[in-house]
Parts: sequence; C-alpha cells; structure tokens
Amino acid sequence: MKFSTKAIHASQPSEPETGAIVAPIFQTSTYEQESPGQDKGFSYSRTNNPTRQRLESVLAELEGVEYAAAFASGIAAENAVLQAYLRPGDEVIIPLDVYGGTYRILNKVFQPIGVVVKQIETADLKAVETALTSRTRFAWIETPTNPRLLINDIAAISKLAHARGALVVVDNTFATPFFQQPFELGADIIVHSVTKYLAGHSDTVQGAALAKDPAVFEPIKFLQNATGAVPSPFDCWLTMRGLKTLELRMLRHQENAAAIANVLNGHELVRRVYFPGLPDHPGHEIARRQMSGFGGMVSFELNGTIDEVVAFASSRRYFTLGESLGGVKALICHPATMTHASIPAETRAQLGLSDTLLRLSPGCENAEDLVEDLLEGLAEVASLRKSQKPVSASAR
Ligand SMILES: Cc1ncc(COP(=O)(O)O)c(C=O)c1O
Repeated sequence: MKFSTKAIHASQPSEPETGAIVAPIFQTSTYEQESPGQDKGFSYSRTNNPTRQRLESVLAELEGVEYAAAFASGIAAENAVLQAYLRPGDEVIIPLDVYGGTYRILNKVFQPIGVVVKQIETADLKAVETALTSRTRFAWIETPTNPRLLINDIAAISKLAHARGALVVVDNTFATPFFQQPFELGADIIVHSVTKYLAGHSDTVQGAALAKDPAVFEPIKFLQNATGAVPSPFDCWLTMRGLKTLELRMLRHQENAAAIANVLNGHELVRRVYFPGLPDHPGHEIARRQMSGFGGMVSFELNGTIDEVVAFASSRRYFTLGESLGGVKALICHPATMTHASIPAETRAQLGLSDTLLRLSPGCENAEDLVEDLLEGLAEVASLRKSQKPVSASAR
C-alpha cells in the first residue's frame, strides 16, 4: 500500500454496526464490564480508547512500525520519552537550534535532576562524535531543525550513537513521514508535534511517540497511562481527518515554500534564506538523500532593524503572525520573541538565531498570493526607509 492510500485506508475500516465509512468518535470515559475485570479490551479512556487506538495505528503505519502512543501535546510525548529513559548522570545531545520547548524541558526539568544536556551542532558529525560518551542516553535530533532548517544526517548519527550504546530520537515534526522515514535510517524513537502538519489545520494540540522495538516502546506506553497526558477522542478524530490529506498538503506546502525561497533568495532586503531545497543550503545533499522532498518551511533573515522586522511580520495579508506551523493557513513567526524566547538572548546569539530571523509556514494558499504578500512587505520596508532618510544639507 502506498503512502496516500495508507493515510486513508490503514486501520480505518467502515464501522461494523452501521457501515459508516468514517470511524465514530468514542466519546466515553469508561466501558461496561461483563463481570469484574472482564472487558472488551477497553476499561478506562486514559488507558485506552477506540478512537485514540485507531489514530495510533494509523500513525504507526505511516512511520512504518507497529508501536505508537498519542499524547495531549508534542511536549507531553517528549516528556514521556525523556522520563522513560533519563536518570541522574545520563547525557543527552541536542541540536543548537532545537525547538525552544525541547530546550526548556531538558534544561529546566531534567537538568535539575542531574541530566547533562549537551547542545551541539548536530549537523556536524565531528561534533556529534566528540560529544558522545558511554553516558549518552539519547542523541536527540530534529531534521530539518527549527528554525534554521539545518539537516542532520540520521543514518550517520545513528551509526555513531549506536556504537556508543545511545538511542537515537528523531523529532520528525517538520519533515513528516511523507518526506522522511527515520526508522529506515536507523532511528530508535520518533516524536511528533502532531499539532503541526499531521493534524494540519491549526485546530488541535497533540503529540505522538513511536518506537521500532517493543522493548524500547514499553516504558513510553507505560508513562502514557501512568502520567496521563492523553488527547481527547475528538482531537484524535480531528487528526485522523487531517492525516487523510497529508500527502496532498505536504506537496502543496513544499511547492509554496520553494516558490517563496526562490523569490527571497537574492532579494536586496534579505540577508539569508534557509530552505533545504536551495542548492547552496549546507544540508542540501543530505536532504536529497534522506528525504523525498524538502519540506514546507522557509526561514529568512531580513536585512534590517528589529523595528522593521517586527513591522514586516505584523502586517502581512496572508501570513498571520502566530506561533506554530504546518496548518493550511500561512503563519509567520519571529523566533527570538516567540517560539525561542525561552532561550536566553546571549545563548540565542551563540546559536546563530539572529533577532532578524523570521520563520514562514506557507499554508495551502496560492503561491502567487503568498509571494506577493511578502514582496509587498519588503517594498513597504524599503519605502519606509526612504521616507525616514535624513534630508541632506544640499537639499535643504
Ligand atoms: C519541532 C517541534 N517539536 C516539538 C514541538 C512541541 O509540540 P507541541 O507544541 O505540540 O507540544 C514543537 C512545537 O512547536 C516543534 O516545533
């Protein structure tokens, strides 16, 4: 079964009692038992729920494994993975521009209980090799990274990490299983902010954690019930609805992102464009090898002042200023004050997260409209500059 067929048919048969072709939402907290302890596989909806179970099966099918656990948010999924494995003295490697919430949970929740967090340029294999020790529990990578969209070589990092006995966790939120299959490349665990492309419509917050090996998955599954951050049946249903069009949406997001990257690249008011599909992107060749596309995100540094960046981001017609990404409606984000604000300014500077960096999540709108909106914004910056130029002495 090919990807788009799986997304529509896998684990989604018609409902047996009525023939409804869309699975119902099992909005129930508990289940009737025939006699004490005798149930039909469901006893309480924190532990298991038929709607959630269907979503988990679809997610597992799309990532090519058998085990998936759905959570109430991406961070809840990450927390379960971290809590399942990290003990005082353990070390974790994370990318320099890891998602701000991942940085925060590791540094504010796990570091105080003795976990050592090593933040390195994971796109540099030498740096990964140097950072790995016998205490490394996880090489935790995002690829493409957020927001610079750097590419981490999953196969090469998995080889290095496995040689040291570490597990490889891939945050596959940006690429999605449509563009990237991390388990095939050696990853042990995948986490998702399902909130983003998988659900795809900016109307739900959810997460997921998946593993290839049942023994690796078991403690994560245990924590799903034991710590209880589960999504509601309705949220799971929304995600299943969204997943059916994942392939169509990802192709459109990518097409829009590429059109934008090509127009911004070389524009006089743009210092730098980050899009893995550009041939001069540092991870372009690895992306070609390990992904089946370049994803739907574009970031760029505006060649201007903070005030200009803020004005540009706040006044777009189609790019709504907001956190998050991956929905059908375009979003623009200023990482320094929004998604990555939890990283101190000096650290952000060291990490190469410029205060003039803007992250775009083109939606499924028409590419020409999106490009026009951005070009209008750049023209506004240029004309504002001209009007503010001090009048020269000769002109007085
Ligand atoms: C790459 C990445 N991973 C994880 C998360 C956290 O997911 P959630 O916001 O669903 O908790 C995000 C959120 O923006 C993200 O961008």
